Amino acid sequence: MFRKKLMAANWKMYKTPAEARTYFRDLLPLVAGHKRDDIAVCVPFVCLNAAVESAAGSAVSIGAQNLHWDAEGAFTGEISAGMLVACECTHVIIGHSERRRYFAETDDIVNRKLKTALAAGLTPIVCVGEVLEEREANLTEDVLRRQCRGAFHSIPVTMAEKLVVAYEPVWAIGTGKTATPQLAAEAHSIIRSEAGKSFAQELASAMRILYGGSVKPDNAHSLMSQPEIDGALVGGASLDPKSFAAIVNY
Ligand code: PGA
Repeated sequence: MFRKKLMAANWKMYKTPAEARTYFRDLLPLVAGHKRDDIAVCVPFVCLNAAVESAAGSAVSIGAQNLHWDAEGAFTGEISAGMLVACECTHVIIGHSERRRYFAETDDIVNRKLKTALAAGLTPIVCVGEVLEEREANLTEDVLRRQCRGAFHSIPVTMAEKLVVAYEPVWAIGTGKTATPQLAAEAHSIIRSEAGKSFAQELASAMRILYGGSVKPDNAHSLMSQPEIDGALVGGASLDPKSFAAIVNY
C-alpha cells in the first residue's frame, strides 16, 4: 500500500509571529515544487495567523499543537477546534509526550481531543511512545497498545480517515538519540495492528505513522527509507528553515 509521507514540523514553544514570517520567507523557496511528500508546520497558537498568511499559495499546511475537546465554554486559556478551523489551520498535534508529562494528559483526554479534531475536519497527529524505563522493562508493546486503544476508543471508522499517528519514543525526543530504523519499524507495526483492531484493516494499512525523536538532516534519509515509516515529526531540527527543508528533501 502506497502511503504519501507527511513531513511535519513541531515548533513547540518557540517563535513569535514576526519570526514565523521570516521562517516561511526562507523555507518556502527551499521546498517549492516539492510534491513527493505532504508538508505541515505546527506552530504556537499566536503564530497561526502569520503562518497561514505566509504559507498561502504554497504546498505547506499549517497546524496547531493542541486543542480543547469542547466546542466552547468556560475554559480559561484553552483553544477550540472551531477556532483552529477559523484560522485556516488544518492539522493539530494531540497527546504529545510533553503534554502527557507536564500537563497531565491521559489516554482519555487524548481520545476526547481526537474525536473533536476529527469531527471538525482537522488532520490530527496523535503522538504515542514509551519512556526509557518502559523500554528497558520490555513494556514498549504494552504501552503502545494501551495508548493506541485509549486514543482510538469508540471512534467510528468512517471518521478516522484523516488520522495520523506519530511514534515518538520519549527517550529519543530532544536527546540526539534516535530509534534504529528497525526499532521504529517494530513499533510502527504494533501501532498499525492496534489501528486494524480499532478500525478496519483497510484503514490501518492506509494510515500514516510518522516517526519522531531527534530526526535531523543527516539521519532523515535512513529513517525515511523504511517502508513502515510514513514521515517525520520534527522538533528541534524544524526550527531552522534550512534544516527542516533538508529533512523534507531527504
Ligand atoms: P525532537 O522533537 O525532534 O527535538 O527530538 C520531536 C518532537 O518532540 O516532536
